[in-house]
Amino acid sequence: MKQQLEAIRKAALEAIADAAKAEDLEALRVRYLGKKGELTAVLKQMGKLSAEERPVIGQLANEVRAALEAGIEEKASELADKSMECKLKEEAVDVTIPGKQEKIGVKHPMYQVLDEIKDIFVGMGFEILEDREVELAEYNFTKLNVEEGHPAREWSDTFYFSDDSSILLRTQTSPMQIHAMETRELPIRILAPGRVYRKDEVDATHSPMFHQIEGLVIDKGITMADLKGTLETLIKAMYGQDSVVRFRPHHFPFTEPSVEVDVSCFACGGCGCRLCKGTGWIEVLGAGIVNKKVLENCGIDSEEYSGLAFGIGIERLAMLKYGINNIKLLYQSDMRVLDQINDD
Ligand code: DAH
Repeated sequence: MKQQLEAIRKAALEAIADAAKAEDLEALRVRYLGKKGELTAVLKQMGKLSAEERPVIGQLANEVRAALEAGIEEKASELADKSMECKLKEEAVDVTIPGKQEKIGVKHPMYQVLDEIKDIFVGMGFEILEDREVELAEYNFTKLNVEEGHPAREWSDTFYFSDDSSILLRTQTSPMQIHAMETRELPIRILAPGRVYRKDEVDATHSPMFHQIEGLVIDKGITMADLKGTLETLIKAMYGQDSVVRFRPHHFPFTEPSVEVDVSCFACGGCGCRLCKGTGWIEVLGAGIVNKKVLENCGIDSEEYSGLAFGIGIERLAMLKYGINNIKLLYQSDMRVLDQINDD
């Protein structure tokens, strides 16, 4: 029996030393120390021993049990340490690996221009008004003094929704003037940015959808001097205090007198270059004193009140400002292009 016990001790300790997992260790504990285990089986035969042998073998059996228990415990803690080490290694974060740069968007160049213009006018006490893109011809044309038969009303130029040409996609933001005059208390000072639509041939500077900003002031005693002062403030804020502003006579049905406004070329300072086509001037907007007929169309007494109005093309300004030579680049949202023209 002594040999049996020694053999169990040797085999069990070797197996314990070789155990690779906690489950293997548990299986060994059952195999040797469990109720039906090998050591227990040997102990059950103790009764057959003589009175002298019994305490000797009993002591040895206890020693073997203690040795196996100690071996299992030690191995268990070793395995636990090892598994913790593996886990830590697996979950380790290498803080020295360079991070991945997430691409973030930029404010679109047109919105950069629009926000700049809004800021300038809000500073002058204007309110921002945004509204419908589907209009009645009455607002887009008639009340703005664009008469029946005017070329701008042609089917070839305008997207109509109805056969009787009464509903359309607005071709300009000017109908916002009419809405403001019909619904607001006087005096009025508004800026109305938004999309407009025309059946233009698509080329480097034209697109069937583009953006305008309409401005309107109605008050007592508004004159050409107010118009000049307002627009000079805008243009100098945008293109620098040194820029020179020029007002050229023009014609729009809804203003009388009407002007087109030029700024001295910001690329060459007025000497003449490719950007200004050698003229030294760049056209930036249309404007004028609100036609009395338009005031009367909106029920405003033109003897008591007068107004100024202007319309700005945002794409054109953005293209000039950022040296973009094709309007398509503004709509493609290609980050390689937008990144280059980001001011922020
Ligand atoms: N609506 C005009 C256009 O689309 C621009 C414009 C010119 C607006 C003169 C105005 C203005 O308010 O006074 O070409």
